Amino acid sequence: MKQSEQRRYLVPIDTASTQQLFTDCLVIGGGIAGLRAAIEASNNCNVTLVCKGSFSDSNTWNAQGGIASVLSTEDSVEEHVADTLKTGCGACDEDIVRLVVKEGPRLIKQLINWGTDFDKVDDHIDITLEGGHSHARILHVHGDSTGRGIAESLIRRMKGDPSINMIEKFFTIDLITNENNECIGAIGFREKKGFEIIWASKTILATGGIGMLYRETTNPQGATGDGLAMAYRAGAVLRDMEFVQFHPTTLYIAGASRALITETLRGEGAILLDCDHKRFMNEYHPAGELAPRDIVSRAILDRMLKTNSTHVHLDIRHFDKEYFSKRFPLISELCNSFDIDVSKDLIPVRPSAHYMIGGAKTDIDGKTNIPNLYCCGEAASTGLHGANRLGSNSLLEGLVFGERAGMSASSEIPGKGNGFKLHRIKYEVPTSDRSRLDTDDVRASLRALMWRNIGIIRRAQPLRESQEIIGFWQRYVMDKVFDSPYGWECQNMLTTSLLIARSAEMRQESRGVHFRSDFPETADKKIIEHIELKREQ
Ligand code: FUM
Repeated sequence: MKQSEQRRYLVPIDTASTQQLFTDCLVIGGGIAGLRAAIEASNNCNVTLVCKGSFSDSNTWNAQGGIASVLSTEDSVEEHVADTLKTGCGACDEDIVRLVVKEGPRLIKQLINWGTDFDKVDDHIDITLEGGHSHARILHVHGDSTGRGIAESLIRRMKGDPSINMIEKFFTIDLITNENNECIGAIGFREKKGFEIIWASKTILATGGIGMLYRETTNPQGATGDGLAMAYRAGAVLRDMEFVQFHPTTLYIAGASRALITETLRGEGAILLDCDHKRFMNEYHPAGELAPRDIVSRAILDRMLKTNSTHVHLDIRHFDKEYFSKRFPLISELCNSFDIDVSKDLIPVRPSAHYMIGGAKTDIDGKTNIPNLYCCGEAASTGLHGANRLGSNSLLEGLVFGERAGMSASSEIPGKGNGFKLHRIKYEVPTSDRSRLDTDDVRASLRALMWRNIGIIRRAQPLRESQEIIGFWQRYVMDKVFDSPYGWECQNMLTTSLLIARSAEMRQESRGVHFRSDFPETADKKIIEHIELKREQ
């Protein structure tokens, strides 16, 4: 094991001098999966839900495009399953796909009963089409505020529940395990309160994505891969880490963040033009603009290269302007804020890191290999997405596995308030006299390296070099003890990035979102080998 990987915890722990809280079930993360898990678990036990920022900082809250589910009589579970399997390029777990798709309509109904106000036409829920889907089956809230609409109804439901204690702005630093490698809670940090340990009988990790490991991303600031890094340190098996999905169309304005321009626009007829104003997607895929995301992303990159340009354009000049501003209010506002008049101007776009397909490997109930530790949502690898995620399947997965993890975890707790135990732990971090690197610089350089070498197109040599460079940074960053989230995030970013680079080097083929220019073909195998990484204990 490398020196830099030996640290079990990022900070010293001494239970004798640290504030301690107790709960039956600890949920880490405030996106759709964490919220749904907390609601379910609270039926049987007391729950503490912590999230790193505010609820509005999650990827869920920012999800524009919708949630996929079979609602039309012209559609069927089998067709949604087939679309998911096809997009997943042979790497999905078919049983999991069928389970998630089947559960969709029931859980959507439940959301409606809990107050989620899905958009309607006449008296029916409005369902739309998106790339990779053979039928219209995408539900939206207020046009392009779907994630927020769902999250708000879940939060409203939780607020009335005395069994749930919600703590925002709690930075979870590490999962705590005992001598039998069972998860017994977590240590975290809150401004004004300092370090706190939360002892829990069951812990559900729902920490979301990793977009901030990349220079270009649709994800919010907090998506630094903390959950995956802490799960790895605790001994969880991480699977499919090479599969990072890039969204083809994010707003390209130098200096501005890469805001998502939802795929639904292309579903409703938006066209991609290169910088010579030439339509090009038909040259890359028969489905044109509605081809799977990985193909659209690579086509855009290729076109940018061929036209020596930093971006391409999305053309919605033919849309009815009034309809557009009603149907896509967030994007409309965004374009207005940059003086883009969509009835006359083209929208400059390019791909950005969007969604982590890999994560902590779980079973059908969200259980990881670590006793008492569950995982759901983007941080988990359930087997639903395979090598490429079908758009709008992620909110659905969060809902289904949030419920399952919450149910399974709480069913093993013998009644409210009976789950927790007090433990005694003392962990010391060895001191190091190596030089200190500038954390800002490491974070920015890492994000640039990930974008350049472990992005949309990969190759052995840069993948190997990147691991050496990240390993070098790790030697100077992982040996330090930081006292604020910015430093712990940097440590987590290095850990998670290295695991992505390692897996990407190991997969010597192109499949789904993982494209190797030195292995451009998909290996012809009946059974796909998944890459699994686990820290040596
Ligand atoms: O394009 C989108 O609205 C993204 C949807 C998704 O990532 O599922």
